[in-house]
Amino acid sequence: ADLSRFIAGLPKAELHLHIEGSLEPELMFALAGRNGLTIPFTSADAVRAAYQFSNLQDFLDIYYQGAAVLVTERDFHDLTVAYFDRAAADGVKHAEIMFDPQTHTARGIAFDTVMRGLLSGMADAKARHGITSCLIMSFLRHLSEEDAFATLEQSRPWLSHITAVGLDSSEVGNPPSRFARVFAAARELGLKLCAHAGEEGPPDYVREALDLLAIDRLDHGNRSLEDPVLTARLAGAGMTLTVCPLSNLKLRVVHAMADHPIDRMLREGLRATVNSDDPAYFGGYVADNYVAVAEARGLGRQELATLARNSFLGSFLPDEAVAAHL
Ligand code: HPA
Ligand code: ZN
Repeated sequence: ADLSRFIAGLPKAELHLHIEGSLEPELMFALAGRNGLTIPFTSADAVRAAYQFSNLQDFLDIYYQGAAVLVTERDFHDLTVAYFDRAAADGVKHAEIMFDPQTHTARGIAFDTVMRGLLSGMADAKARHGITSCLIMSFLRHLSEEDAFATLEQSRPWLSHITAVGLDSSEVGNPPSRFARVFAAARELGLKLCAHAGEEGPPDYVREALDLLAIDRLDHGNRSLEDPVLTARLAGAGMTLTVCPLSNLKLRVVHAMADHPIDRMLREGLRATVNSDDPAYFGGYVADNYVAVAEARGLGRQELATLARNSFLGSFLPDEAVAAHL
């Protein structure tokens, strides 16, 4: 209880959160009803019981199915507000939220509908909780480069509201190299660059994300530790890793929380942060992730404070805003 209170009281930024992954079963049911959609479950508990996955792809199949209840601007608004209400209780002061436009545009939902709903939810969060936030538009790497370029094109009217692009979905077989050109185009447009790499994929994918995408931030990055040269390079570059302990456990990136490398990452000089990834699916919001990994690895207050401090240092906030949080 003492540890939980300390963790909830630590001001923190959340840097790795898929807004579609914050869709709780109760809201999924409510939205399905509101939109006249049927989902293959009889209750929120039945939805939860179906959340059994042992790898990334099994999770993604269920996650994309769940996102299909998101139809109207109000749906995206309500989803976003629900996340921020929960994040506020966890001591989140700033959140950099990923969204997957292709998951929605492929179902005929307008890009503008998604953006309006997310942005109004973010404005509400600022008004209600004082939490600042920004958006990371993530490309689905199981789709083509052409599809990513079309998405970047659709985002043009909204670029002043988008801070970065990301790269998510099925990692193995979809290396960063496939998206080098679209990332270069995003960079030209003034966007920051993130990519998931080294979650299930090998250290080579992390190297590609650095060398071919020129990322500003690395999502997950766990498997970098298999390569000492790469690890030293990430540490030397001051690269931020957005680590997600409960996600890592559920998707078997680690076999037990007791094996989680978060403290090893800090010892290797990596700027590691703790995040929730898809909290509605992985069993916990950001403070739950801090608590789970702190208990399993015996982290002390100093290490926890370092992780929280890293979350602001690794954010895309301007330097003055970062300094104001430290
Ligand atoms: N990895 C890849 N794609 C994702 C994830 C993840 O952890 N969460 C949502 N989309
Ligand atoms: Zn993720």
